[in-house]
Amino acid sequence: MVNLKGRSFLKLIDYTPEEIIYLLDLAEKYKQDKKNKVPHDDFRGRNIALIFEKTSTRTRCSFEVAAHDLGISTTYLDPVSSQLGKKESIEDTARVLGRMYDGIEYRGFGQAIVEELAQKSGVPTWNGLTDEFHPTQILADMLTIREKFGKLKGINLVYMGDARYNMGNSLMVGCSKLGLNFTACAPENYFPDKKLIEQCRKYAEDSGSKLQFITDPEIACKNADVIYTDVWVSMGEPDEVWQKRIEELAPYQVNAEIMKHAAPGAIFMHCLPAFHDRLTAVGKEKCEKFNRDAMEVTDEVFESPASVVFDEAENRMHTIKAVIAATIL
Ligand code: CP
Ligand code: NVA
Repeated sequence: MVNLKGRSFLKLIDYTPEEIIYLLDLAEKYKQDKKNKVPHDDFRGRNIALIFEKTSTRTRCSFEVAAHDLGISTTYLDPVSSQLGKKESIEDTARVLGRMYDGIEYRGFGQAIVEELAQKSGVPTWNGLTDEFHPTQILADMLTIREKFGKLKGINLVYMGDARYNMGNSLMVGCSKLGLNFTACAPENYFPDKKLIEQCRKYAEDSGSKLQFITDPEIACKNADVIYTDVWVSMGEPDEVWQKRIEELAPYQVNAEIMKHAAPGAIFMHCLPAFHDRLTAVGKEKCEKFNRDAMEVTDEVFESPASVVFDEAENRMHTIKAVIAATIL
């Protein structure tokens, strides 16, 4: 019997496959309840703090809507208006918030920060994205894959592009724990950290998953059920990296040609936001500067029937709700 009460959700490494599946099942139940307008505000009177040192649409809205549906009140601390990191240390902030709140969400920079928050606050703490990991995103992705294919084990997921950052790392952990075959397709300097790969190889042995690291997109995408990508430049990285990133990762753009190599019925996934056109300020500026129409995915693929990106986005809310409900005391 899985019991996650009082636990933090900092990275998937800390959770067993059984515990991850429990969270997916709980999310599925909450999703049904929400669709059927069955109230589930069983946690009335609780309060949680949402700390965002980086910007967000999906994660913030998911935490706020999920908490509200569960009867929980939220306090949003934005990237500039709290004392955190400027006039007050993580340790002191954690000890203050731990006295007032029943749980804390943190989005920001190093994984060490969210780990310290959890340790020093003494209340369940949830990782809303760090440079190294984005575990709530992976729950939404796994729920979406299970909905589309009816299973997780044996699904071939290919991650194209910057596989050494939060999304590549977390997908590799999630796939190796849950038995999906994971392929990182990128230049070698964009493969995940060697130590993390070794750790995931152990999970893969237990789950029956296969891990591959391939530089050739055509070979990597052959028979893929899921082709996944993320931005080439992540939040917090300096503007100067764009040029080199584009030069090195352009061959890994997900476009119609790449999708042709995938298995029949393959889906396209992206955690979002995506640079698939010139219709945003940054997208326009970078596309004009580097003479491109899109970055990591073409508009054609993004808008195609294979694209499930908005199902993924919706599932952020249901899975985050499951994490809060399962862990809060
Ligand atoms: N996918 C994701 O985390 O989106 P936000 O940055 O909008 O929260
Ligand atoms: N790798 C991206 C993920 C955004 C959800 C970033 O960190 O900006």
